[in-house]
Amino acid sequence: MSVPDTEPAGALATDDQIPWWQRGAVYQIYPRSFADADGDGVGDLRGVTNRLDYLRDLGVEALWLSPFFPSPMADNGYDVADYCDVDPRFGTLADFDELVSEAHARGLHVVIDWVPNHTSDQHPWFRDPGKKSWYVWRDEPANAWRSEFKRVGSAWTRDEQTGQWYLHSFLPQQPDLNWDEPRVEAAMHEVLRFWLQRGVDGFRIDVAFKLGKDPALGENEPGRRHDQDWPTIHPRFRAIRRVLDEFDERMAVGELYLPSQRDLAAYVTSGDELHMAHNFFLLLAPWVEATYRHTIAEWLELLEPDAWPAWCLGNHDHSRLASRLGPERARTAAMLLITLRGTPFIYQGDELGLEDVPMPPEFAKDIDGRDPERAPIPWRPPSQAGPGAGFTCGSPWLPITADAEEVNAARQSEDPRSMLALYRQLLTLRRAEPALRSGSMRLLDAGPDVLAYTRGDEFLVLLSFVTEPRVAAIPAPGMIEISTNPDREKSEQRSPVQLGPDEGVLLRMTSNATSSFGGSPPSISAST
Ligand code: GLC
Repeated sequence: MSVPDTEPAGALATDDQIPWWQRGAVYQIYPRSFADADGDGVGDLRGVTNRLDYLRDLGVEALWLSPFFPSPMADNGYDVADYCDVDPRFGTLADFDELVSEAHARGLHVVIDWVPNHTSDQHPWFRDPGKKSWYVWRDEPANAWRSEFKRVGSAWTRDEQTGQWYLHSFLPQQPDLNWDEPRVEAAMHEVLRFWLQRGVDGFRIDVAFKLGKDPALGENEPGRRHDQDWPTIHPRFRAIRRVLDEFDERMAVGELYLPSQRDLAAYVTSGDELHMAHNFFLLLAPWVEATYRHTIAEWLELLEPDAWPAWCLGNHDHSRLASRLGPERARTAAMLLITLRGTPFIYQGDELGLEDVPMPPEFAKDIDGRDPERAPIPWRPPSQAGPGAGFTCGSPWLPITADAEEVNAARQSEDPRSMLALYRQLLTLRRAEPALRSGSMRLLDAGPDVLAYTRGDEFLVLLSFVTEPRVAAIPAPGMIEISTNPDREKSEQRSPVQLGPDEGVLLRMTSNATSSFGGSPPSISAST
């Protein structure tokens, strides 16, 4: 391994005193599909370490690793058989330690996935007679709760060995832990400490909303679910936070699918639970300006004054951004994600504009049909690197995109018009400009179909949501700093600004913007 270059991409102006997890983007790595160093067709930790320079050059602040723990892989590692080790397919604990130290040497923080709601049915706890109360066992299915995976059906499975039934919110191979059992909570806190002591900077908490369920196992009712988000959950997150606070500057972000943003806010506004909550409302919303505006305004308002937003438009559970929106809008979405006030979470491959890869039936593995968004990353053109496209020299566990000759990291690195170039520009600018990180955000009314907002006094973002040209009214002149259209001239703009089809532009204001934006610096204003 070459001596790491300690300078991250783009100078990081540090005049805003904010913690690392508010400073920059978090890049999600799905280890199976990121980079395979040992040639078995499955990505691994050494593959990640070998690609850390790519992440540094991209300009992200942190990487988040989806599970790499020993697992029978019924749910690709979200069925954990040992929380404190590395699955041999992904490497060893020594490989993990090396990854962390090489990441830290490049100024990158490391976040790992913590899967506290359920274990694998192969976890020793599940068969330990002394730990019966660690899971939810009943003589009969206690209610009509359903698995989150539609094809699984009931959340109860009969165990052949004991004749009893156990609860599982996902696959039958993923029995739910019983968080009403204090020994479960204590054991899971020890798991956190194990990784914190190894130097991890934070956790993404898998299905965080499932850590509290009605202990009486009551039926779900219209408007009130008993199998998630039960009031017992909040003391649990406060206790988790106390464990993190035993260490310096560690972070927890929760995966929370809840009916409303108000429900979501309850996990982050008191300041003593989660640092951030993944907001899926944008990801699940149609690409309609009014819907986006409303969702963003509501979320920022709910979080005022102290809680910090986290935004994501893709992950390993959803059809890819470029497939959902198309290639042009995916560029506008990138500008949105990286310029909103809050921490952007980027799913591996979205920075290449990678689309879902259709899966031939013999490859389709996932019970919930999520294989297309999990296809491996094409690093190099197959004409140079062979059919593994630089992901593997073996046979990839899932097919690589048929477009790998064009859609690959090496080619896009050389092409200033590429999606990768756009992500780099946006992330580099964000690193250089405190206003884009911690600056206030104010939504403006610029005209139909254009989402417009300011960041601090310096920047104005205009995002068109439609394929026809639009004009946007702006309160003060500004220079185009970045456009999603690489052919757009970087000229000064005065109101009204012409926007091309699906175009997003980021303007640097050239006159005193504070007065033009309406006097006193707004924090977050929801002008819907
Ligand atoms: C989360 C993960 C998903 C997994 C599920 C069960 O939603 O993101 O991939 O299947 O939890 O662990």
